[in-house]
Amino acid sequence: MIEIFDSIFKLSTRDTSYIFALTEQGHAEHIYYGKRIPDRDMSSLRLKNTIMLGTTVDYQADTAGYSLDTTLLEYSGIGKGDFRHSPMELIMPDGSFVTDFVYHRHEVTDGPFSCGESGLPYATGDAETLHLIFKDKKYEGVTLTLHYTVFEACNVIGRCVTLENGGRESLYIRKLMSFMFDMPTADYTMLTLDGGWAKEAHIHERAVSYGIQVNDSTTGGSSNRHNPAFLLKAPGADEERGEVFGFNLIYSGNHYSAVEKGNHDTLRIMSGINPHCFLWKLNAGESFCTPQAVMSYTDGGINAFAANMHDFVNRHVIRPTFRFSERPVVVNNWEATFFHFNRRKLLALARRAKGLGVEMFVLDDGWFGERNHDRAGLGDWVVNKKKLPGGLASLSKAIHRMGMKFGLWFEPECVNPDSNLYRAHPDWAIRVPGREPGFGRNQLVLDLTRKDVRDYIVESVSTVLNGAEIEYVKWDYNRHISDMYSSSLSNQGEFFHRYILGLYEVLRRIFVENHPTVLLESCSSGGNRFDLGMLCYSPQIWTSDDTDALERLDIQRGIYTFYPQSTVSAHVSMTPNQQTLRAAPLSTRFNVAMFGVLGYELDFGELTRDERRQIKEQIAFYKAHRSLLQYGRLARYFPRAGERESWQISRDGKAVAAIYNLSYHASPARDTLRILGAEDGKTYEVSSVKQYLRIGRFGSLVKHISPVAIKSDGAIMRFVDRNFSMVDGSEHYVSSGEALQSGISLAMQYSGTGYDPHLRILGDGGSTAYTVDELKNYEHTFEKGNGNG
Ligand code: GLA
Repeated sequence: MIEIFDSIFKLSTRDTSYIFALTEQGHAEHIYYGKRIPDRDMSSLRLKNTIMLGTTVDYQADTAGYSLDTTLLEYSGIGKGDFRHSPMELIMPDGSFVTDFVYHRHEVTDGPFSCGESGLPYATGDAETLHLIFKDKKYEGVTLTLHYTVFEACNVIGRCVTLENGGRESLYIRKLMSFMFDMPTADYTMLTLDGGWAKEAHIHERAVSYGIQVNDSTTGGSSNRHNPAFLLKAPGADEERGEVFGFNLIYSGNHYSAVEKGNHDTLRIMSGINPHCFLWKLNAGESFCTPQAVMSYTDGGINAFAANMHDFVNRHVIRPTFRFSERPVVVNNWEATFFHFNRRKLLALARRAKGLGVEMFVLDDGWFGERNHDRAGLGDWVVNKKKLPGGLASLSKAIHRMGMKFGLWFEPECVNPDSNLYRAHPDWAIRVPGREPGFGRNQLVLDLTRKDVRDYIVESVSTVLNGAEIEYVKWDYNRHISDMYSSSLSNQGEFFHRYILGLYEVLRRIFVENHPTVLLESCSSGGNRFDLGMLCYSPQIWTSDDTDALERLDIQRGIYTFYPQSTVSAHVSMTPNQQTLRAAPLSTRFNVAMFGVLGYELDFGELTRDERRQIKEQIAFYKAHRSLLQYGRLARYFPRAGERESWQISRDGKAVAAIYNLSYHASPARDTLRILGAEDGKTYEVSSVKQYLRIGRFGSLVKHISPVAIKSDGAIMRFVDRNFSMVDGSEHYVSSGEALQSGISLAMQYSGTGYDPHLRILGDGGSTAYTVDELKNYEHTFEKGNGNG
């Protein structure tokens, strides 16, 4: 809801209020962001600026006592007395950096904001937008509009700005953030998602301190180094309680966010396109729209904040065709075959996958051109007939005949010099004339600022999509941009942003306009471009090339803070894991991957009969709980920091929960399971999800418990392991919602003193999962029970 009284603007979502007012001088003064409040009289909330402070600069001679530096603002410029970090740097027609935008008028429109000509994606769906229009005092034709879009039900406010040059001369934009606002206190901890290849989105926290803390990327993409999302936690806030303010950007290019603690302990927050190498010429008559930033507040801790963001992404970011659509279970051949496959091998993999319940076969890298390794072929989107003599049409037909869907990998933004494309168009690759370019994975990036390059990509990918029955595309992008330069641009300061606009255009033309039902999964060496911009086109993203279950806990935990599980592509792969050589139990690999869009990325032929049987059960379980797992409300808690972690998803009286042993210590601490989504006054049945234990895991202990002598590395043990396994800790409880919220006692873990079927044998990286179902009309009676489930 947007309410305006006099000069006060009050934006309300279901649980939050965001309030600002116009000052007499025409600047927008930030007043409040937090829990929804009924107040209309702002005098108690407004920051008191009773007298001037030393070394502040008055706004004007006749406004003594009014300094922009001590006012909490909604946006700011340069050169009028505000010495904090500015969200905007313009070079005005007079050559100066000084601007002074003052209120001109405002307007409220129904619906979300979208800057049509900009080519940027914006959030869609039910919303209301306030447009606050300011004019520069000297160049009145130059207007700055702050757009506020209220997504009421999910407690999210979208922010972006438009700069319009209605004057007669051009100006330059060096920096134009999507939003800014100041808060009266700075006592927060900043949480960011940082990492690199195979270790994306690890959570890091640091106290906000004097000066400026920046979270940005300069790689050309949103990057695996620093995700554009970040949040601020008030003292005492944790997963379940406390104040959290969180921010994200609907943008896939270089991003920049900063928080600045000022000299009176106020806090300035901003986010937008990274000013790094950015210089945009705005000619007379042109306008520039920034990407949309989004923000949300809660006093219910990180889980409640994540719920707001998840809801927002599922309802307003994902394209309508895929909103709340159940995502298929895939098998991807990459880690099973790498580049070395032929039709026979692929069909064998597909047949096995189908037998286990997999719904889609995805053919990864290596199907085109001379792509037998990563040094050649990229750019030539024509099937390799040596590997696939019948072509893609025949392969996809064979897959469909088995009753599965077919998906295909592309990396259309890049080119290997050893390719027909590069031989025909060396000038299409990004490089600076007269300099040797740098290489990433033996490839160069194509210049998507050029129309001919974009047309080539659209045509070549569309030809493949039109030539075979393809229901899914994995769109990969495996390097950062170096040597940025385009011969198509007279101003290289526009390069990075125009590249991303070019990418959005290509994705729109291929997928939104021509193949709207093809499920797009984007990928960039894993999660190197996991952002809201890509999610506007691709409903799911390959989260990381790291499929090690324990590593994935770190990665997915970070991602879930801002992105819903429906967007998180997660595969079970071989053990030892190819990225870490760590051996995690098959049960844990599944217990982690099921909290996302499930897939398998391994050669089922290398598994034992028993493992295949377990996978068949896993897939059946996932399908039975798919809607809950992909769209229920996710929460996490840390029963023992650094040692245990629990993820759980609940909705409508049901939940699936897992508890992971991050590391095992002898004679382990007892485990309790809390179900955060359990409700008072209800009763639930809690059952462990059936999982199995490889008998060989007991190593040399086996000979002590077996009636016959068995060597731990002998033929008998290998036979047993291939064909049998033990059920691992089966538990069953009935508990009230109140008791579940506080925690029920789980079966003991193995502790080296003996074996009992009621033990949970976990060790490092072990885990157990549970289903929780509401029992209607249950009468509680006294029962002693022996505690063994
Ligand atoms: C990237 C992706 C992988 C796989 C390979 C293929 O690394 O992240 O999933 O597709 O490329 O080359």
